[in-house]
Amino acid sequence: MCGIFGYLGKRDNALEIVIKGLQKLEYRGYDSWGVATDLNGELFSHKKVGKISEANLDDFKDKKVKLAIGHTRWATHGGVTNANAHPHFDPEKQIAVVHNGIIENYQEIREELGKENFVSETDTEVIAHLIAKYRKDYSFKEAVLKAVQRLVGRYAIVVLNVGENYLIAARRGSPLIVGVGEDEAFLASDIPAFLEYTQNVNYLDDNEMVIVNDGVEFLNLETGEPIKKRLVNIDWQAESAEKGEYDHFMLKEIMEQKDCIHRAINQDTDEIMHIAQQIKDSRGCFLSGCGTAGKVCMAGEYFFSIIAKRHVNFAPSSEFPVYHHFLRPESLLIVISQSGETADVLEAMEAAKKKGAKVLSIVNVEGSTIARQSDFSLHIKAGPEKAVASTKAATSQMALLLLIATAMIGELQEGRRILAEVASKINDMLNPRFLTYIKSVAEKIKDQENAYIIGKAENYPMALEAAIKIQEVSYVHAEGFAAGELKHGPIALITEGTPCISFVANDEVKQDVINNTMELKARGAYIIGISPDNHDVFDEWIKVPDVGVASPLVNIVPIQILAYYIAVLRGLDPDMPRNLAKSVTVK
Ligand code: G6P
Repeated sequence: MCGIFGYLGKRDNALEIVIKGLQKLEYRGYDSWGVATDLNGELFSHKKVGKISEANLDDFKDKKVKLAIGHTRWATHGGVTNANAHPHFDPEKQIAVVHNGIIENYQEIREELGKENFVSETDTEVIAHLIAKYRKDYSFKEAVLKAVQRLVGRYAIVVLNVGENYLIAARRGSPLIVGVGEDEAFLASDIPAFLEYTQNVNYLDDNEMVIVNDGVEFLNLETGEPIKKRLVNIDWQAESAEKGEYDHFMLKEIMEQKDCIHRAINQDTDEIMHIAQQIKDSRGCFLSGCGTAGKVCMAGEYFFSIIAKRHVNFAPSSEFPVYHHFLRPESLLIVISQSGETADVLEAMEAAKKKGAKVLSIVNVEGSTIARQSDFSLHIKAGPEKAVASTKAATSQMALLLLIATAMIGELQEGRRILAEVASKINDMLNPRFLTYIKSVAEKIKDQENAYIIGKAENYPMALEAAIKIQEVSYVHAEGFAAGELKHGPIALITEGTPCISFVANDEVKQDVINNTMELKARGAYIIGISPDNHDVFDEWIKVPDVGVASPLVNIVPIQILAYYIAVLRGLDPDMPRNLAKSVTVK
């Protein structure tokens, strides 16, 4: 949610580096963008409504500068206009700020500094004005420190001051990572932005500030005291964050599911056993996440129930704080997040910690805030996921939850065997014929306005996840239901030809789901069956392997592909759906 980037170093094409870096952060927001630099002692800036991927680098080639900042926006305060695009400046145009987060007391600061002096509707502009105010009496560093001490809310900011050959960044609640190269440094919301230059990073923690000049210097935001940080080497390759031969990241990431599950289950046995034991020892165990990760949690509820005979409660992270009434020191919260930065998840963790409960996390981004703020964290190792719609991270997370469930009953090896088989069956399934068939189904339904999806037991969460996938990339109104709930209301929505997707696994609820599918068919629905076996009730049959209780992992894959093709056939960009962002760092 908003990408920020700053560069300072030996190269003299800083604007180009910043724009290219922001293009890799575009998944975080893509309604407008902007850059700023100190060009021969004057502030140069450029802002534009639209996607940064459409920026023309040639426009910046003649500007030889070694320092620049930039931003790609997902609007929160103020509409999508050039004026609201970042960077934001003080009235004298000496200070430029890029910001990811929300400043809650911005109205109050605006009043104090004189509303008439502001040119945008954003909360961010107050940061530049505040710094400028303090800058009159203090050094750049002291002015930033004084300004951020006034801010209430969440932020990651990068600031430049004309005439000062260094950048300052600060964080509280939103991600900020420092890439450290030879005689150069990068400040970014996420690692892929600078991965082609360096794999050495420092993670900025909350209430920390970094000054980037000849080297990098870290300070505590409240006291101004220096802090020592550990340099971490990231094992992601730059290519893994590129589209390669694929038209879109979404398709690339769907195809990568061949390998991801292997990596996800290749975890240290002691760590898995430790987590399994913590769940067993807890009194009140909760699973929480947002969006797709939330649906993964729901699938986890079923895995723990079916495999480990253990009841675990799910709550979406935005709702979880309400559960504080039930939390106590023996409670355990397991949070699931691809990005490791989702604000609602962090808030859920805070609620649990306040009551003394332990927090475990399952994340894709190592070193992310959620990972660092957990008592224990598992890394799913899916590699960078760039498309807004989560695919490979979701199946990897489900694989890990299933593995943990088997570990809880002393069957970890068997769990590994089952999941290795699932991975190899997904590998077989993802062949060109399979994709072509699903594309043909997408052709048939692409102009429909509504689609409904049903599933039962461990595939009920997949019905919900399938709906999210279709909604978010193709903008078709899709809804998922527990198969048995249809007759209690939603069936009224079915008319002749309405596409309905039915997950029919070979499990104890198979016949029930078939009966519910027949009820849909009797009302004219066009049935797309996702199942290991064909059935008369299906108009289209998408064959998936029979993998027992692991069926959610294989069932969701064809829906990811279907959603992808519906979006492409409707002329949409599945990687950057409207109104959404990959990493949601606001509540
Ligand atoms: C956003 C994304 C979703 C994602 C959710 C949770 O809404 O658009 O695809 O599932 O955030 O993100 P997380 O990084 O916590 O898994």
